[in-house]
Amino acid sequence: MATILPSIFGADILRLQEEIKFLEAENTEILHVDLMDGTYVSNIAFGPNQIAAMKKASSMIFDVHMMLANPERHIDEVIKTGAEMISVHYESTPHVHYIIQKIKQAGRKAGVVLNPGTPEGMIEYLLDDIDYILIMTINPGQPGQKFIEKSLEKIKNTKKMIAGRSIQIEVDGGVNAEVARKVKEVGADLIVVGGALFNGSPQENYQALRMAIQ
Ligand code: DX5
Ligand code: ZN
Repeated sequence: MATILPSIFGADILRLQEEIKFLEAENTEILHVDLMDGTYVSNIAFGPNQIAAMKKASSMIFDVHMMLANPERHIDEVIKTGAEMISVHYESTPHVHYIIQKIKQAGRKAGVVLNPGTPEGMIEYLLDDIDYILIMTINPGQPGQKFIEKSLEKIKNTKKMIAGRSIQIEVDGGVNAEVARKVKEVGADLIVVGGALFNGSPQENYQALRMAIQ
């Protein structure tokens, strides 16, 4: 079974509380929250204080996607937000294993994120330490980009590499209902959606996205 994870970065910031209420009323289990520092990626969004405030106002599981340079400097603060799932970009630090250890020691789920140009084989030695692999299906930082089709092959290969371990595959970027169906078919478990959920009629979009992965 696959799950849709709304990306709060795509929501209307001036109506954040209502957007969170809407997602809860729609029985959203996991909220995807982007943390961007303006250095690792050009955008800036949602620091630990804002994430902690959103977390207090919500009963959803928080999946924090760290897009940060030197994440080892910020991991303690991110853990303090209360997020249940935290992921780190493989490319963002030489200390990826250390960060995963910290996340696990705090009793949270640890994920490792791969940019479109990073082969899945790079994380072979991390497979026994992680709970999920986040495959970027766009280049991180900007919403509204087109899904990179080559990602379908990468999802399939990642699924093979996991070889029965209990590791989930998450995808993020450029997902609409049609793409959601395709990524689910090749093995995605957690499907992040920003623009295609919040633009237009969120209620109808949510329904269409869920239908697509049934
Ligand atoms: C982009 C973020 C995504 C973003 C996805 O760097 O990681 O989570 O919100 O937005 P869409 O679904 O519109 O591509
Ligand atoms: Zn994200």
